Amino acid sequence: MHDFAQRLIAWQRRHGRHDLPWQTGTDAYAVWVSEIMLQQTRVDTVIPYYRRFLARFPDVAALAGARLDDVLALWSGLGYYARARNLHAAARRILDRHGGVFPRRFEDIRDLPGVGRSTAAAIASLAHGERHAILDGNVRRVFCRLFGVRGWPGERAVEARLWRLAESLLPECDIGAYTQGLMDLGATVCTRHCPRCDTCPFATECVAARQGRQSELPNPRPRKVLPERATVMLVLRHGGEIMLERRPPAGIWGGLWSLPECAVDDDPASAAERLGCQPSAAQPLPTLIHTFTHFRLEIRPWLVAVDRCPVVAESAGRLWLAPDAARQAAVPTPVRRLLAKLAPGDGA
Ligand code: ADE
Repeated sequence: MHDFAQRLIAWQRRHGRHDLPWQTGTDAYAVWVSEIMLQQTRVDTVIPYYRRFLARFPDVAALAGARLDDVLALWSGLGYYARARNLHAAARRILDRHGGVFPRRFEDIRDLPGVGRSTAAAIASLAHGERHAILDGNVRRVFCRLFGVRGWPGERAVEARLWRLAESLLPECDIGAYTQGLMDLGATVCTRHCPRCDTCPFATECVAARQGRQSELPNPRPRKVLPERATVMLVLRHGGEIMLERRPPAGIWGGLWSLPECAVDDDPASAAERLGCQPSAAQPLPTLIHTFTHFRLEIRPWLVAVDRCPVVAESAGRLWLAPDAARQAAVPTPVRRLLAKLAPGDGA
C-alpha cells in the first residue's frame, strides 16, 4: 500500500485524538512521562494520574530531586511500579549525564531505564518530529490484520518482520501525526475485540477484514506442549458401591476424595487385592484426558468387580459410596465425569 502513511495522516487529522493532555507541544519530558504511563495502562485511566504527576513534577529537575517514595505515592493505583522507579532513576541519569535536559539523540533516549525501542521512537517522533517507527501492542495488531501477518508477534521472526514493515511505511514528513494516527487507529478503530471496520480508512485493503479474520489475527501465543503423565484409576465396585480414597493433603487434588490409583504398568486386579479386595472381573473403560496448567493427565480407568471387600472408615481415608453419592462428594472433575458414565450395576 504505497499511500498508507498519507491516508493515515489525513485520517488522524480528521478523526484522531487531538486533546489528550500530553498533546500540548514538544515538551519531550511530558511526552516521556505519558508514554511510560501508557505502556501498560489505558488512556482514560492515565489522564488523572498524568495531570497530578506533571503538576507535582513539572520537569526533569523536579522529578530527579524528588524522593522515590513521593514518586511511588503519586503512582499508587496505576500498577507496574517498576515504571515509576525507572522514571525516577532515568530523571537522575538525565541530570547527571545530560545536564538536566531531556536527551535529543534517539540512542540516548533509548538508553534510559524503562524505555524500549518503541517508546523511544514514540518520544522522538511525537516530541522532536524525528523519523522513527513505533511498534507497540496496538500497532502490532493493526499491522498483523492489515497485512495478514501470520504467527505470534512475540516470536522473533514475526517481530522482525513487523519492525521491517513499520520502518518501510514511515512517511518523509508529518511523522508526529503519523505516529499518533497509528496509536489512534489501534486504540479507537482496530480494537482487540469488535473492531469498528466500518469506520476504518483501510477496510477495503485490510487482509483480515476482507477475509473475516479479525478475531484470528494477530495469532495468539502458541500453546505450550504440556508434558504428559498417565495413571490407572480403579473403579472398585461391590454391591452397587464404589471405593473412594482421600488424596494426600499436598499435590494435585490435595485433600479431595478420588478413586484409588495404580501405575500404568501395574495389574489392576493385583492392585485391588493389595487394597484388601477380592476381584472377580476387570475391564478397561474409555480413557479420559485432564489438562492441568503444567501437564496433561491421561486417566485409564478400570472397572473391577469385587466379591469381598475390606471394611473401611472415612477417618482412615477410604469409604464405599453409591456412584450418585460419590459424585456429590468433593471429587475432582474428571472423577465426577467418570462416575456419571457408570451405568448402575455396571460389572458388579
Ligand atoms: N498509547 C501510547 N502512547 C499514546 C499516545 N501518545 N496517545 C494515545 N495513546 C497512546
